[in-house]
Amino acid sequence: MKKLKIVGLGVGLPKRILTNFDLEKMVDTSDEWITERTGIKERRIADSDTATSDLIVIAAKEALKQANLKPTDLDTIIVGTSTPDTIYPSTACWVEKALGLSGPVAFDVNAGCCGFLYALEIAANLINGKRAKKVLVAGAEVMSKVVNWEDRRTCVLFGDGAGVCIVVPTDEERGIVASNWGSDGTLAELLYQPAGGTRMPASKETVEKKLHTVHMVGNEVFKNAVREMENATLQVLADANLSSSEIDLFIPHQANYRIIDATIKRTNIPLEKTYLVIHKYGNMSAATIPVALHDAYYEGKIKDNNYILFAAFGAGFTWAAMILKW
Ligand code: ACO
Repeated sequence: MKKLKIVGLGVGLPKRILTNFDLEKMVDTSDEWITERTGIKERRIADSDTATSDLIVIAAKEALKQANLKPTDLDTIIVGTSTPDTIYPSTACWVEKALGLSGPVAFDVNAGCCGFLYALEIAANLINGKRAKKVLVAGAEVMSKVVNWEDRRTCVLFGDGAGVCIVVPTDEERGIVASNWGSDGTLAELLYQPAGGTRMPASKETVEKKLHTVHMVGNEVFKNAVREMENATLQVLADANLSSSEIDLFIPHQANYRIIDATIKRTNIPLEKTYLVIHKYGNMSAATIPVALHDAYYEGKIKDNNYILFAAFGAGFTWAAMILKW
């Protein structure tokens, strides 16, 4: 087991709520279509002057308060995001600036919707390698700024938010019991943002063609997500030597209720043990799992020594699963 303890949880969620009925007025869609195909009813949307780090800072303050720590106690900041404030420096460095810190290790992990699980895996390894003692791990996105609001196939799916965990070493028998992660770059173009990097720098044409927005082959993403979420989940259960009935809570990445439904049926995880937030937040990519973890904790769904299973799939393609003993 990679021993660690999560001593603080926080979220940063924009106040503005965009419902399916609001979307009906923006594109040719309906509440019925979105609800049936995805399970989403509403999502949070950031103001025009809010960047990813702003949401992380709100979440960080809540998490640090619960942990009874000051920002200056942090030695490491890891942000899982694919919607950074800037291409460089990292969003983690902008978080550092906003918290008034100079010194901690700070970097981003770009692993699409798996960003938070990748970041937590890295934090666990740094802690267990005695390279870090007080780590801020965030999953955060402002998806609304990279969505084409004229494309009904994508704009209805996403939301904005940030979730933060403060992770520390422990001698107690708790931490990451098993985990896996992987990727398949050969399928990268099924879900990507074509422009804005060195392959296709920003130009008048890229802006006019809306190439700075999410491009996705929805049904291919769907099929791959179901397969890899199942594989990653079964593998992590086998590695932990646990059966699905021994899991106390399943917190999957939440892109689409139908992906979650297929995953739990294929892995025998009961719906009652599956924690859902998709209806109220939509797909917040890397932010989904830490925000759901926070909400589950404050709803009293997580008790000492519980086994919590996480699984995610996202752009890359990437996938990851983890079993955490709380
Ligand atoms: N409202 C109304 N109709 C729509 C909408 C909409 N918002 N979007 C698409 N349609 C139409 C399509 O135009 C199509 O119409 P047509 O048959 O006349 O051509 C019809 O609905 C069916 O379209 P499909 O794309 O086949 O619909 P599907 O059942 O595959 O559902 C969806 C689409 C919800 C995007 C699904 O493929 C999906 O969830 N894929 C996963 C994608 C995802 O979640 N990506 C997020 C990032 S990765 C991750 O987080 C896992």
